[in-house]
Amino acid sequence: MAGTLTILSMVFSSGITSAILQVVVCKLADLAFEKIGRSDEISGKLQQLARGLQKIDSLVEDLENKQTNSNACEELIEDFKNALLDAEDLLDKIDLEKPNFRDIDPSRLKSDDKRELSRLLKRVDGLVKEMEGYFLSEINRQRKPPQSLDVNPRTSSLVDELSVFGRGNEKQEMVEMLLAERRENVSVIPIVGMGGTGKTTLAQLVYNNEAVVREFELRMWVCFSSLDTDLVPVTKSIYESATKEVLELSNLDAVQVALQEKMRMKKFLLVLDGMWNENSAFWEVLKLPFKFAAPGSNIVVTTRSKIVSSIVSTGRHYHLHTFSGGSGHETCWEIIKQSLGGNLDGHEDLQNVGLEIAKKCKGLPLAAKAIGRALRLKLEKEWDHILNCELWDFPEDYMRQIYPVLKVSYDHLPAYLKRCFAYCSIFPHSFEFEEDDLIQLWAAEGFIQPQKTRSVEGIGREYFDFLLSGSLFQVSSNAAGGRKYEMHDFNHDLARLVSTNLCFRLEDSMSTFLPTSRNVRHSSLLCQDIKPSTLEQFHRYNKLRTFILLPRDPTSLSEVPHDFFSKLPCLRVLNLSRSQITELPESIGKLMHLRYLNLNDTLIRRLPKSLADICRLEILKLKNCSKLHELPKNLKKLSKLRHLVFDRPNQISSWPKNLGKLTLLETLPEFRVGKDKGCKIEELKNMTCLRGSLSIKNLEKVADVAEAKCAILHNKQYLESLGLHWNNGTRDATVAQAVLEGLKPHDRLKRLQVAGYLGSNFPDWIGQSSFCKLESIRLEKCQLCTVLPSLGQLPVLKELVIEKMDALTDVDRQFCGLAGSFPSLETLTFCDMPELRIWSGINETDMPLLTELCIDSCQNLVALPSLHHLTSLETLDINGCPQLLSIPGEGLPRSLQHLSISDSDILKERCNGSNGADWDKIRWIPEIVIDGDEIPMHGRGN
Ligand SMILES: *[C@@H]1O[C@H](CO)[C@@H](O)[C@H](O)[C@H]1NC(C)=O
Ligand SMILES: *[C@@H]1O[C@H](CO)[C@@H](O)[C@H](O)[C@H]1NC(C)=O
Ligand SMILES: *[C@@H]1O[C@H](CO)[C@@H](O)[C@H](O)[C@H]1NC(C)=O
Ligand SMILES: *[C@@H]1O[C@H](CO)[C@@H](O)[C@H](O)[C@H]1NC(C)=O
Ligand SMILES: *[C@@H]1O[C@H](CO)[C@@H](O)[C@H](O)[C@H]1NC(C)=O
Repeated sequence: MAGTLTILSMVFSSGITSAILQVVVCKLADLAFEKIGRSDEISGKLQQLARGLQKIDSLVEDLENKQTNSNACEELIEDFKNALLDAEDLLDKIDLEKPNFRDIDPSRLKSDDKRELSRLLKRVDGLVKEMEGYFLSEINRQRKPPQSLDVNPRTSSLVDELSVFGRGNEKQEMVEMLLAERRENVSVIPIVGMGGTGKTTLAQLVYNNEAVVREFELRMWVCFSSLDTDLVPVTKSIYESATKEVLELSNLDAVQVALQEKMRMKKFLLVLDGMWNENSAFWEVLKLPFKFAAPGSNIVVTTRSKIVSSIVSTGRHYHLHTFSGGSGHETCWEIIKQSLGGNLDGHEDLQNVGLEIAKKCKGLPLAAKAIGRALRLKLEKEWDHILNCELWDFPEDYMRQIYPVLKVSYDHLPAYLKRCFAYCSIFPHSFEFEEDDLIQLWAAEGFIQPQKTRSVEGIGREYFDFLLSGSLFQVSSNAAGGRKYEMHDFNHDLARLVSTNLCFRLEDSMSTFLPTSRNVRHSSLLCQDIKPSTLEQFHRYNKLRTFILLPRDPTSLSEVPHDFFSKLPCLRVLNLSRSQITELPESIGKLMHLRYLNLNDTLIRRLPKSLADICRLEILKLKNCSKLHELPKNLKKLSKLRHLVFDRPNQISSWPKNLGKLTLLETLPEFRVGKDKGCKIEELKNMTCLRGSLSIKNLEKVADVAEAKCAILHNKQYLESLGLHWNNGTRDATVAQAVLEGLKPHDRLKRLQVAGYLGSNFPDWIGQSSFCKLESIRLEKCQLCTVLPSLGQLPVLKELVIEKMDALTDVDRQFCGLAGSFPSLETLTFCDMPELRIWSGINETDMPLLTELCIDSCQNLVALPSLHHLTSLETLDINGCPQLLSIPGEGLPRSLQHLSISDSDILKERCNGSNGADWDKIRWIPEIVIDGDEIPMHGRGN
């Protein structure tokens, strides 16, 4: 395998080194100029380094793109890359030791750091000189143009129809789109899909379709080179394709006017093949000459970029996918046979092997073609061999045909995204990932270029979208619940190709293979059976920044060797989730670069004390840790912590103090109020970055309104969901009332829960219409509450649950407030309210969108309000209301689809069959269920 790999990585420059260089230069500049101050000795050295690197920026890019076959050059670039990565680690260390440079005497920088810096400077200097020398000698020796591969072969409109398989339906659909009657002069239909799906072929088929040829007076085909940004040559090409004449002009205006004249009143079809330019201004100008064409004209644009697609489209898009399923494999097999040249008569035995090989094409026509050509050169007995090896180990000539085409998408990425993409090679094939998870990893690795006013995650999301829109990521095909993403196998292999010597993963299927280079930085371990000794194999990669367990099922690993962390001092990302470990060695505290620690789904009981020494830690995940009963006591020292994720707060016995020091915290699922200093609700004061959801427990320990106000909940503007819990309500009601008054949150809150509150009524802020994002409210266990707050004026409230209010006896008009109340409410639940007798006061204009009403366990409820004007109501559940006297007088709305009544004796009697007094009010409802039995439509008489 190493053979193919080396050859390929030589043929394809990855551009990774230039990408890293740019990042390192930025960090250097930031450190040297912003943080240390120009006069310092260290700063001088750093500046020197930055200048040296900047100088050779373009040189590195040149060398990388040269696609030379010289080993020497390869090695030089490799050395340089490693020097840069080492520099990155050193900078990280210096940055850490001198967090506030201006305040500290710069000469106190650790002397071994100084030494290391000097060594590094020398090393980089040496490499720079070597590179310059190399470059010069290259120039002198031969100035032949770089032998580029036929990366994007030019296309024309000509196609051999007989050689195309499996796109019959697509062709038909496209032709119909083109011939459809339309009013606009020109419509633009992009064909969008990942590299190798056959977008060009589809365009060719359509272009040469008889009906299309008949319909369009003029047909033109222009192929973009991936770098076309100049309008003049493109416009000229279109002109030439239209007229078959050469245009001797070079001024944009002249060229466009000439083209416009040719297009006037003509019904035309133009294919722009392989467009990359994502600049909408380019497109705005390019399309100008077509304005006066005859109605029904069409432009078809083939592209991999969803951005291009959305810029050019006049409404419709055509997404071209890989062939899928069993028939997809067969189509690939047809393509392979075609490329094989001959027929297989007399080789029926190959049919089966061939079909199996076809499966490896993953529905990608390009791969099928390439495999066919590669197989042609092989002896039949080698087919079996190919069948049994990983795609990765396929013959070189195959790889040479397919990866350059796919790699164009990668080449188009900005430098910082190349790193993000290459990194994904540590995931296994067909791995499904979530957007936020991946962004957190990128952030921890330092791949995200900070911008002053924006959150790292916000920038990360932009990166993610970019990769998605460039078809390098795709939405997972079996995304059940929540949106997940994956990489097509070929893109995944591409990532693996460009991350050679940088990333590796260790799987059961290849467990004998470990990379030879000790300089790898990112690794994942996917084996099921992991022993401590498996981990020891990683000791030799002492520059590892990433160690991730990604097994499909929980692994057997139950212990981390005590020196594991001291052997891997550069770790930034550590994920030991889904293992059986119960504790971590204290040596973890030495991981000064660590930013991400994931212990999800482990048996960890407590975290080592030394964890608090990892002052860089930003993300700590402890989800589904069934044995965890303690958070680190001095958690407050983790001042960079942004996400503290855990989901079983009730297991945790003692709560850490002084959490208020963690002012960057964005995720904190629960805060438990205590009475002592460092535990009071005041700790929340400075946590202004909190996002997502927060539950505040033990509110009975807040002494008074002043203390409550100290939490300043109204400045947590990113918080979406807030739970306010009184867990042991022994305090008196007036205090509770004042405290809740003081806990008014930000008015962009989306979900609110109040539980165990012991006031008799609610403060005014609950229900104020200024809470214009509030979608869901739950009020529960408020046992002394006698009046519901007036919630009808909340403009977007969709869901309301009122549960276990022991003292509430009636709900009247006040609950709705002004006319037209609850304009957005969709579901309403009253549950477990033993004293509630009467609910009244629903008027004509109230709750226009209510679809579901559920009344459960209200033992004393006798009357409902009139419901007949709830014209959206579809489901009505009445359960456990034995005193309820009747269906409201005016009956039920005609929209009702489902009525269910149980454990409500009086009502049941009245609704049961044709003798029941309320039978006529309900008999027309499509579905009626009484005490669990459905009353069939046909058995209802008339
Ligand atoms: C369509 O073309 C006609 C002339 O061919 C022109 O008058 C009209 O303005 C064009 N429509 C648009 C929307 O550009
Ligand atoms: C643990 O973390 C991973 C990565 O962030 C996440 O995908 C997974 O859902 C988490 N596990 C649980 C049980 O939440
Ligand atoms: C919040 O910040 C202010 C001002 O920096 C500081 O005085 C106060 O002690 C902080 N509060 C907490 C609970 O950390
Ligand atoms: C509730 O409060 C009472 C009185 O302060 C106390 O005795 C009791 O232990 C508390 N219960 C719980 C579960 O905290
Ligand atoms: C609701 O209807 C009742 C009777 O139909 C009426 O007396 C009352 O004024 C109405 N209330 C509002 C707020 O419209």
